[in-house]
Amino acid sequence: MLFRLPGVYRPQRDTWLLAGELTGRELGPGTRVLDLCCGTGALSVAACEAGAGWVTAVDVSRRAAISTWLNCKLNRRTVRVVRGDLVEPVRTLRFDVVVANPPYSPASDDATPGRVLGLAWDAGIDGRAVLDRICVEVPQLLAPGGTLLLVQSALNSVEKSRTMLEERGLCVEVVASEDVPFGPALSGRTRMLEERGMILPGQRTERIVVLAATDVRSRDRAR
Ligand SMILES: C[S@@+](CC[C@H](N)C(=O)[O-])C[C@H]1O[C@@H](n2cnc3c(N)ncnc32)[C@H](O)[C@@H]1O
Repeated sequence: MLFRLPGVYRPQRDTWLLAGELTGRELGPGTRVLDLCCGTGALSVAACEAGAGWVTAVDVSRRAAISTWLNCKLNRRTVRVVRGDLVEPVRTLRFDVVVANPPYSPASDDATPGRVLGLAWDAGIDGRAVLDRICVEVPQLLAPGGTLLLVQSALNSVEKSRTMLEERGLCVEVVASEDVPFGPALSGRTRMLEERGMILPGQRTERIVVLAATDVRSRDRAR
């Protein structure tokens, strides 16, 4: 069971789809994992349980950072928890696996959300405000051969993420996907999404997709 301060994202299908891909990998005592946008820390705990030796968690929300810290303590897992804006607090570090479930719900405008729960969901008009930053900033954090595991909705152009990551030298594949009913964020925005043509009239499900983007630059240099 996970502790959750008010307003912190409750782990959902996207969390568990990503957790399945994370724990299906070979994680050992030397594996360095970054849980970016950690929320309750569900993915940090999963990484530790799967054997990762070095886990760091980052979230911009103080309540999320506290929730992650507490959940790691309650589960007797050692995780370095840092509050900060995306990769900023870990810019000088390198990771073998970066796992990210960022906010990706299309919002009414591009303003930075004020509420904690808004921070967990809202990602600008196209839903890509944080996704685009991840695609630009995370490749530099990957150790040679390292992998970014990123979950997003098909409503936010999986192809754009793929192109941005490939342009930065990563090899990208879709490793998991699932059709899920709209969660609380999208359920309240169906009219807006229909008016923008982002969903079909009456559509109430979205496809969530996990991308694995692997650094193959060192392998290519060795050839
Ligand atoms: C969809 S929730 C995911 C939480 C958790 N990883 C999970 O899968 O259950 C997104 C999280 O991203 C955090 N977040 C939003 N913008 C951020 C930023 N610029 N830097 C770091 N974290 C951010 C939110 O506070 C929220 O906890």
